[in-house]
Amino acid sequence: MVQRSFGLFATIALAALALAPPAAAQREAAEAALAAPKVPLAIGVAWYPEQWPEARWATDLALMQKAGFNTVRLAEFAWSRMEPSEGAFDFVWLDRAIAAAHAAGMQVVLGTPTAAPPAWMSQLYPDILRVDENGTRAEHGGRRHFSFASARYRGFATRIAREMARRYGRDARVIGWQIDNEVGPPSFDAEAQVLWHAFLKQRYGTIDTLNRRWTTQYWSQHYDNFEQVPLRAGGQHNPGLLLDFKHFTTATWTDYVQAQARAIRAVADPRQWVTTNTMFWNAGFDHYAMHRDLDLASWDNYIPDGRPDWLANGANHDLVRGYKQRNFWLMETQPGRVDWVPVNRALDRGQTREMAWQAIGHGADAVLYWQWRSALNGQEQYHGAMLGPDGTPFPIYDEIAQVARDAAAAAPALAGTAPVGRIAMLFSYDSRWAIDLQRHHRDFDPVKQFTAWYRPLRSIAQGVAVLPVDADLARYPLVVAPSLHVVTQAQADRLAAYVRGGGHLVLGPRSGMKDDANALWPQRQPGPLAELLGARVEQYYALDAAAPLTGSLGAGETAIWAETLVPEAKDVEILERYGPSNGWLDGKPAAVTRRVGKGRITYVGVWPDEAMLRGFAQRLLDAAGVAPVVPDAPPALEVMERAGNGRRALVLINHGATPLRPALPAGAVPVTGDLRDGVLPAHGVAVVALTPAQAGISNR
Ligand code: GLA
Repeated sequence: MVQRSFGLFATIALAALALAPPAAAQREAAEAALAAPKVPLAIGVAWYPEQWPEARWATDLALMQKAGFNTVRLAEFAWSRMEPSEGAFDFVWLDRAIAAAHAAGMQVVLGTPTAAPPAWMSQLYPDILRVDENGTRAEHGGRRHFSFASARYRGFATRIAREMARRYGRDARVIGWQIDNEVGPPSFDAEAQVLWHAFLKQRYGTIDTLNRRWTTQYWSQHYDNFEQVPLRAGGQHNPGLLLDFKHFTTATWTDYVQAQARAIRAVADPRQWVTTNTMFWNAGFDHYAMHRDLDLASWDNYIPDGRPDWLANGANHDLVRGYKQRNFWLMETQPGRVDWVPVNRALDRGQTREMAWQAIGHGADAVLYWQWRSALNGQEQYHGAMLGPDGTPFPIYDEIAQVARDAAAAAPALAGTAPVGRIAMLFSYDSRWAIDLQRHHRDFDPVKQFTAWYRPLRSIAQGVAVLPVDADLARYPLVVAPSLHVVTQAQADRLAAYVRGGGHLVLGPRSGMKDDANALWPQRQPGPLAELLGARVEQYYALDAAAPLTGSLGAGETAIWAETLVPEAKDVEILERYGPSNGWLDGKPAAVTRRVGKGRITYVGVWPDEAMLRGFAQRLLDAAGVAPVVPDAPPALEVMERAGNGRRALVLINHGATPLRPALPAGAVPVTGDLRDGVLPAHGVAVVALTPAQAGISNR
């Protein structure tokens, strides 16, 4: 597993920890605060008062109030304003902005400004600047141009975080902290190399262990000492090195964020939560590890092409909810459009509202728009905003105001509730990275493959928890791991215990092939789970044309990938076989299943077509006794259930362009939204309350 702190930064971390109240007590208090937020649904916006004359603030805040907002996020890029020269701090303007926001009824989230270091720092200390893999040092003028490995930068970043926390850490108007903004790009400077070597030393202990785990006898790669190991993200390098590079970026970014979290927590009221905002499916670091010591997950949900694919976007939300297995914040979303893809199409009328309710249905307790008003200059002049350059509302303002109105009406029914996950899916960063490093078939995109399985499972079960491999799975009757490529012995043992205890584990292709140093398991797939399965993969094949499948799951075909399986135990059942194809596949088992203990393990060595996957999902869910809350939901209807705290509610969205009539459970009471006489119009949303007695399902 990835280490959280190391070398140089461990010293910094320990010094900061000495000042902090006991972590457990602090976390408990923060969790209590999270369980009882002041506003059950926070609706608001990123506001940059530093970009506008102070005389304008009152007008802005009055318009936010009119929109029904209750939350603003401030200061995340305002470093040059808060520390105009080295060590000279100016918070007076921010004091006034917070006071004005509070007077207008807003709670405040403060961002630390460390994604945008000031020019004086780049000029005086060019060693803080990021260096890319080709050795080019970043220059000032954009953002994220710092090195995540720079001790000097770490010092500046923790100091501004500490100064802010000293001033606002006990301020009742401030509810939480966002650290940095979308951390991500690594650096390859000399300090990063020193940290890399320290990281490898901590991970492997001796160079002999590293040599063994990476099989460095291959191509004479043997290392005499850690200092010889190059710092590389890609190219023709050892797969062990490349996967460990990801572990290294995880450790370094986690430590970077935690350094600020510690600085804040050392002085702040534990009532204030600490988060960092992340990006959809970002592969830069392991998000489970990043969130282990944060209070809250938050993310930035954008639909770049303006064409929402609700199932794919829902998978994103569920992934984020899985980081802490707790409700999260939508820290940013677009008022209509973005400005960073080739065609920045705006969402259709009604879809911005749909996306807000989708987030809430999947567990967001906040929806914040980015941004309030476009700055008159700066890199993002074309991005969606709520106000135009003239300071008056764009058409989207009214749609977002409706989100705020509906949220206020729905808040009592949703307070203290969380999404109900009826089954679990496992998403593993190690597996994703290892496949991405060696796809073997260009189109074997691990996120697409995960989403292909998520689609039917989610639309039939109407509630999927996306979890790390180490999560407690006991409560889920069905756990699907579409491609658990990297699995450790300890993880395999836990999964085996889950199966023996009565769960059904379904593994997709390429599962159980590698260990966490990206080395092949010496057993055939699924490696440490092969014995449990009573079968093994004989060979895998990348396909340039689909291969036919027949069997008890029905007829269909597999594209991209095919694995032939060999049953070894007598009680292994063959579910599916290949039809005539390349000769190697013909007639061979493609999917097998076996009862073990009180449960079952199934291995599916293919990427089935959509219809087949749907049929298979239906069978798996039927066998697990999982039925939808709203039966026969048409494809455009999204059903999301939130329960807990004695409440149970459904969030319904008609993502389509024609009206629908959802088959609601008896006794459902509309709370807010567009449901009229049982009909949900095109792009309509509704929240309905169910009586807790109708639940029968725990709050997961
Ligand atoms: C990201 C950033 C924001 C803004 C938006 C624009 O999510 O966090 O500062 O640049 O993108 O879409």
